[in-house]
Amino acid sequence: MTNSTTVENQTNLVDVEISTQIAEGESVDVPRQHLLDLDDFSSQEITELLDSAEGMLEIVGRDSRKTPALRGKTIITMFFENSTRTRVSFEQAGKILGADVINVTASASSVSKGESLLNTVKTLQAMDIDALVVRHPHSGAPYFIARHAAASVVNAGDGTHAHPTQSLLDLFTVRNHVGELAGKKIAIVGDILYSRVARSDIIAFQKMGAAVVVSCPNTLLPDEWKPGSTLDESAGFNGLKLAKSVDEAVDSADVVMALRIQQERQDAGHLPSLREYSDRWGINSKRLSLANDDALLMHPGPMNEGVEISSEVAHGAQSVVEEQVRNGVAVRMAVLYKLCAQGKSTRIGAG
Ligand code: CP
Repeated sequence: MTNSTTVENQTNLVDVEISTQIAEGESVDVPRQHLLDLDDFSSQEITELLDSAEGMLEIVGRDSRKTPALRGKTIITMFFENSTRTRVSFEQAGKILGADVINVTASASSVSKGESLLNTVKTLQAMDIDALVVRHPHSGAPYFIARHAAASVVNAGDGTHAHPTQSLLDLFTVRNHVGELAGKKIAIVGDILYSRVARSDIIAFQKMGAAVVVSCPNTLLPDEWKPGSTLDESAGFNGLKLAKSVDEAVDSADVVMALRIQQERQDAGHLPSLREYSDRWGINSKRLSLANDDALLMHPGPMNEGVEISSEVAHGAQSVVEEQVRNGVAVRMAVLYKLCAQGKSTRIGAG
């Protein structure tokens, strides 16, 4: 047997093994064309996606990690807003699964010449694509695209509305450390008003039975969440607790998540100064010490170190920030596999 044959046979064996693993982990029987948010996902369906991501994480950790699972599929990432983690991890996820991945940025596309979102989608659709991964500054844009696309649409963050794959990777990261999510206390601190991560995370963690507590300046709390108002049960926020102080939120928490102050979205003066915000709401070692001893420190990134999170804790022993990023690749592989491999039949009747 020559060396090249050995390598070829090994590659084939790996491919068979991977296909078997994926097939074994594939107990999801809810056909889905799109992933727009997690509000219409059951806890069982979320669990199945996280289980699938376990197998994907094992593949990510291999020396040779190219798989044939999505060979022949074309995925387009279409980002109308800046991104590092989400865009790169979707590209990496698609490529590991063997798909062709093409990146489109709004500034380098015909959008900059005035082409409408609808015509952009129709143009890409005409090239027979399988999935569109979309980030857009306007809430609801991926829903609009999904109404006009035959391909699967994945919401990679829309305005202040939702960021479902970030939530899945957050759930996945916490589950890997604590096991069962039910009954765990999740403290989310920071810019709730403008945070699509907060909305999707609150929905997702609550669906999995965790107790979510939020803390933020009153000016960064949505009006409908303010004391005296009724949280919208249909939106999945029922049971959300608003802490009187950040210390109360963090006290005995299993997870402390700091959110970025989204200065690019804050057109009104919500904060007296970043220094005051950091003093009153920033997560530092003193505040983190109020949480459980083995509490996880999370941040969806990008971080404003020294504002919502101190450098000391951001890179400290309890931080899982980089683990979140790594897990993002595995979770997005699970999502793309679910939509593109199983989604072939669900595309019937779309568009
Ligand atoms: N968390 C997140 O969405 O990061 P990016 O903006 O870098 O994608």
